[in-house]
Amino acid sequence: MEFFNREKEINYLVKVLSFEPNLIYFIYGPINSGKTTLIKHVIENELDRNKYIVFYINLREHFVSKYEDFIEILFNTYEEPFIEKLKRYFLSFIKDLPDNIDIKSTILTGIPVPKNILNEFLSAKNSENVFKYLIRIFEDIKKKGKQPILIIDELQKIGDLKINGFLIYELFNFFIDLTKEKHLCHVLCLSSDSLFIERVYNEGMLKDRCKYYLVDDFDYETTRAFLKRYEFNDEEIEIIWHYFGGKPIKLVEAVQEKLLGEDIKEFCKKSLRVRKRQLKDLLYSLEDENKDLFERVIKLFENFKNKDEIFYEKITDEIVWTVKKNILFVNIEEGILKPQSRLDLLAIREILNEIKI
Ligand SMILES: Nc1ncnc2c1ncn2[C@@H]1O[C@H](COP(=O)(O)OP(=O)(O)OP(=O)(O)O)[C@@H](O)[C@H]1O
Ligand SMILES: [Mg+2]
Repeated sequence: MEFFNREKEINYLVKVLSFEPNLIYFIYGPINSGKTTLIKHVIENELDRNKYIVFYINLREHFVSKYEDFIEILFNTYEEPFIEKLKRYFLSFIKDLPDNIDIKSTILTGIPVPKNILNEFLSAKNSENVFKYLIRIFEDIKKKGKQPILIIDELQKIGDLKINGFLIYELFNFFIDLTKEKHLCHVLCLSSDSLFIERVYNEGMLKDRCKYYLVDDFDYETTRAFLKRYEFNDEEIEIIWHYFGGKPIKLVEAVQEKLLGEDIKEFCKKSLRVRKRQLKDLLYSLEDENKDLFERVIKLFENFKNKDEIFYEKITDEIVWTVKKNILFVNIEEGILKPQSRLDLLAIREILNEIKI
């Protein structure tokens, strides 16, 4: 489906990337709000290819259970002569790469490294050499007058990995060095795990060294404009907005349903029934496991009877449970708690009428 809008966010990100690297950027937002789609659109379509070299690492696609897994994802191995060729290609744009090399424009999905060096990284029990190598690569790029950008999507997947201490803290120290100290490379981290972001947010080390940027669902006007493009009528638009708000993935689904000739209202109602069923299953098994927590979750839900979002004072166990289960979303900067989607809000409200404590 064609990429839609996000003008404000695109302008913001393109501008940030035009500055000297200074801060680590955290791009966060509720599930399926379009963070990955936005960042991919920016790097593929909005950046001057003669100016930037982008490393986009998506941890979602990989199984990451230990430090070595992360290192293997971070790097792409090549034979030594090919690395030289790769460098020439990216740095001066000679178009003589073999046809079978599938590299899209100036976006790399791993840092190029010769096989023997990667093996050294994997056998050493610290990350020092890895970071040194990365700095050398980024400096090389910078010397050639280009700006490196490192993007890590689904960063929370390495939240619990350890090497000496937590890998994530070593990595953040390194990112601070790359941005605030050396101004060498832009670092963007994406995540929809608001508890992970909250943990990072409260980490003293990162205060004033990183900036949070919320990518939320579409607002009403954008949702309307999106649906108009696919010839939804006003009545359908209002129904979709009522059930899904501006959740891009649900809007895309609605378009598909329309193209299939399905009834939009029935599609919306069914989506709610399905979501309600899922939430009830989660709640009933929680009730069996931990009745006290179950009751506190229901009490927390009661806040949403008449409100779409609430302010929270502190992250309680019931907040942790609902966030972990992807029912609620925490906006850490503003201290706001809200359902992950409009569908979740409606499901919560209906469930409150059916489950009593
Ligand atoms: N600007 C957009 N224009 C058109 N479709 C979009 C747009 N943004 C998101 N979508 C649709 O919504 C889907 C979900 O978006 P995406 O995967 O980018 O969300 P996300 O915030 O990265 O999700 P997650 O929280 O799971 O990481 C996409 O597959 C795409 O179909
Ligand atoms: Mg994503």
